Amino acid sequence: MKKKLAVAVVVLLALLFPGIPFANAAVTVSAPENVILSLTGDTAEMAATWWDDTGVAAGQVRYGRTENLSDAAVAAARRTVADSGYNSFEAVMTGLVAGETYYYQVGSAAGWSEIRSFVAPEGDTSTFTFLYLGDVQGSSAGEYEAWGALLEGAYESYGDAAFGVMGGDMVNNGQTAAEWQTFLSEASPVFSRLPMLAVPGNHESNDMNTGKPALMNRLLSLPQNGPAGFEEEFYSFDYGDCHILCLNSNVYLNEQLNAGTMTLADFDRIKAWIASDLGSSSATWKVVVMHHPAYSVVSDQAGAAVFANWVPLFEAAEVDLVLYGHQHIYMRTKPMWEGQVDYEKGITYLMGNSGSKHYPGALTGYMEALIEDTPTYQAIAIDGDTLALETFDAGGVALDSFNLSARARTLRGDVNGDGAVTQADVDAVLAAVLAHDFSNGNMDINRDGRIDVADAHLIALLCL
Ligand SMILES: [Fe+2]
Repeated sequence: MKKKLAVAVVVLLALLFPGIPFANAAVTVSAPENVILSLTGDTAEMAATWWDDTGVAAGQVRYGRTENLSDAAVAAARRTVADSGYNSFEAVMTGLVAGETYYYQVGSAAGWSEIRSFVAPEGDTSTFTFLYLGDVQGSSAGEYEAWGALLEGAYESYGDAAFGVMGGDMVNNGQTAAEWQTFLSEASPVFSRLPMLAVPGNHESNDMNTGKPALMNRLLSLPQNGPAGFEEEFYSFDYGDCHILCLNSNVYLNEQLNAGTMTLADFDRIKAWIASDLGSSSATWKVVVMHHPAYSVVSDQAGAAVFANWVPLFEAAEVDLVLYGHQHIYMRTKPMWEGQVDYEKGITYLMGNSGSKHYPGALTGYMEALIEDTPTYQAIAIDGDTLALETFDAGGVALDSFNLSARARTLRGDVNGDGAVTQADVDAVLAAVLAHDFSNGNMDINRDGRIDVADAHLIALLCL
């Protein structure tokens, strides 16, 4: 018990006092670099962000279906940072056809990036893989290079991944441009070819004036559908039959509350948004990504607040998988429900760590797997009603894996959204079929791509 306490204190101190940033050197950018793709939440779109010379005031993306961009469309960029040594830009490519390969380059008349390609998001695929990467938070250029090599390895194995999600603490000092340049230069070779999404960690969320992940949200382009005032900190998107909810758990560090950018009422407003977001999704798979551990390796204050406030919402919405980081160790829980192991309806929680910083762990009763001192990435493969997660080290060696089967959603069939599955839902589908009104995608209960009497029949069965 004493040893456990000592470990907890060491980890707590290390988390609270992250140390001196290694990379506070001046940033100098002379050509387009740090190109990163991102999903917007609209499957016909792809966002791009990049850095350029301070002399470039207006950037563009040129994109099209031909390798030499002879058919290029142009998307004008928004300048998100104009700072000493660099400007950063953000632009959205639109009108994309699902599953098609596109070529693109970013820049301006002063200079263009190389031409790269990506595959446009698949709106309704039932089979795809995405990557998850926990904390990077390098303390030297070499540690970021090691992470870049791990990412390259993941890309070699999963080049057809739909996207990657970062679990926060990508850098050590999130308000320092030089650290972002180091991270983004390692991320760009892969994430300029497949989209990257991210949640903020405590090392990004600590802007002095706002308590927000201010620089991160200017450098990255993330979906904008979060609660008002918290856009890009909270967002969700669908890929195929999977709903992914990304959360800024750092609000429970109270930095925003103390800075006056958040009120106590906002905690409830955020909870209501989470409940509504998860509750209104009929996706087969629901995945949550955040930074702080709902089930931790050593006790964590923000994690405890997440457990008390958000986990009940995850349980009510029957979330399948929750991904997080923060404690610099790999840990997977048994299926958990209301704090207890529950193999029938429990949610799997997974702590990732893709960087070189490691903390020791201590076993608890809810752990299924614990891996110390090893940077890893996760590949999550969804195939219809099956989700398979595999954890690999930087050399591609599989260290952990598990499968989930799709849940029977309690409210599957509640097409009129009144909170119950009744004859009224059957009637609503039949009325829509007679009126040829196929606008309510939730009516495709059997998910065969059509709304017809078979769906009404299935709802009738669910009523009984
Ligand atoms: Fe953290």
